[in-house]
Amino acid sequence: MNQLLRTDFLGIEVKSPLVLPAGIMDMSYSGMAIAARNGAGMVTSKSFTLEARTGHKGPVVAECEGGILNCMGLCNPGIKEGLREVEQFRKNCETPVIVSVFATSSQDFITLTEHVNNSPADFLELNLSCPNVYDEFGIPLAASPGQVSSIVRAVKSIAQMPVIAKLSPNTPDILPIARAAEDAGADALCLINTLGPGMLIDIRMVRPVLYNKFGGLSGPCLKPVALRLIYQVCCEVRIPVIGTGGVQCGEDAIEMLMAGASLVGVGTAVYIRGIEVFSAINREIAVFMKERNYRNLAEIPKLKDHLDRMVQDNEE
Ligand code: DHB
Repeated sequence: MNQLLRTDFLGIEVKSPLVLPAGIMDMSYSGMAIAARNGAGMVTSKSFTLEARTGHKGPVVAECEGGILNCMGLCNPGIKEGLREVEQFRKNCETPVIVSVFATSSQDFITLTEHVNNSPADFLELNLSCPNVYDEFGIPLAASPGQVSSIVRAVKSIAQMPVIAKLSPNTPDILPIARAAEDAGADALCLINTLGPGMLIDIRMVRPVLYNKFGGLSGPCLKPVALRLIYQVCCEVRIPVIGTGGVQCGEDAIEMLMAGASLVGVGTAVYIRGIEVFSAINREIAVFMKERNYRNLAEIPKLKDHLDRMVQDNEE
């Protein structure tokens, strides 16, 4: 274990701050295990729903300048089958695992939580922000502080593990939503989910590239938006934040940490740099830390503290 990268998240030791986010190679135990073996400090399962879902018709993924558009449609084997993969993962890997779940009512979130309570999950993530199922379920729950509050409160009343609320960038003001999640008892936040949704057009066929027309945008083009939201939220809340959105390299990960994130998601970069991206980013973070004489992740300055100190120095 590289001591420079070791950290603690809600009382659980992780060997790297890098997290495989929901939706990336994580439908099966082997995908999560490959990420863990390649240096992810923590892995997240695909968002599981109560029943299996086939997801949207293809094409469900399209590349564009600076990113990837996807409209998977929450394809997943359902919570029972999904948790069998998580059990398999736990038998083979010690890396902490977050189980992500998606529902549209408190009652369904509670039922999902009961399943996850009987699993080896270390953390429960509430996907309140999938942008790809508007047609079926309407605007994501994460657009409403009231709904975020009641769902987090309901889940927290029974969850036997820490609860992470995954928020959306697709809202005019994320702060009341982040505060609602914290006040309702969320142990941590994960942000951001994909942006948009967006659209691409096949100009020769004169039709949308994605069968479903619209899809959530991820990848490097997202990073400035993610950094701004993570910074704003981290200035407001006391709970830790998993920062995700467009991280491709070690210096991007450092930006996330400086914005205030405790851990850093690496998702779309897996498709761009390959699964070795985790060990590569770990190395790149360590090189930067050595250059700057940071002995551990906590010594990497937070932008907020740095700016506060500059204001203080100017006043003196
Ligand atoms: C899907 C869900 C998400 O939350 C997301 O950000 C992207 C895709 C999906 O399965 O459609």
